[in-house]
Amino acid sequence: MQVLIDRYHPDTSPYTQCYDVDESMLSEGMMLLQLLQHLREQDPSLGFRSSCQEGVCGSDGMNINGKNGLSCITLVRDLGQRIHLRPLPGFAVIKDLIVDLGPFYQHYQAIKPRLAPEPSVAADLGQELLQTPEERAKLDGSYECILCGCCSSSCPSFWWNPDLFPGPAALLAVQRFVVDSRDIQRKERLEALNSATSIFRCRHIQNCTAACPKGLNPSRAIQALKHELLSQ
Ligand code: FES
Repeated sequence: MQVLIDRYHPDTSPYTQCYDVDESMLSEGMMLLQLLQHLREQDPSLGFRSSCQEGVCGSDGMNINGKNGLSCITLVRDLGQRIHLRPLPGFAVIKDLIVDLGPFYQHYQAIKPRLAPEPSVAADLGQELLQTPEERAKLDGSYECILCGCCSSSCPSFWWNPDLFPGPAALLAVQRFVVDSRDIQRKERLEALNSATSIFRCRHIQNCTAACPKGLNPSRAIQALKHELLSQ
């Protein structure tokens, strides 16, 4: 088996490195992240991020055989005999498979990703904000995002306007608060998206939904937000 990795270091020209992997070191159920950890034992210069190793922290997003995903929940046996790993597209590369997610986090920060309850409720930290089961169910599919960046990194609208277009992850986060019965800033959150460079830059290519390693559907959330905006 061969593992090709696009290597980059600011002091050298980019190149693709080929690692020959002895199949005897592969185990049943081995994840790509474990394989990368083996490769780094041989080559300590190899750069990639990881933390939780179980699809929760979102730190090991990368482009795997042309599709964005998380190495820690990707089975090596599903990738064939030749695996090509690249850093997430659309972000500046810091080193090898490590990219600068700063612009991605700035968009997330800009949508104010925190609950805005009634001021009287916000002042009383001991007060519970109850929801009916039906109200709570509306959050399903939007709160589970782990901010790995796989969706925004696969979105052409984000590639073309990384400074202006919030990207699917940030828009999915808006949807999470717009449908929350406890949030009183629904109108303001929608209005903040009402520009040609914001939500209307989305062309519903749906790469985001195809790329999400958590099986979420940012494209559907964006369509719902557009519908809400246009029917106000
Ligand atoms: Fe945390 Fe993969 S290492 S999501």
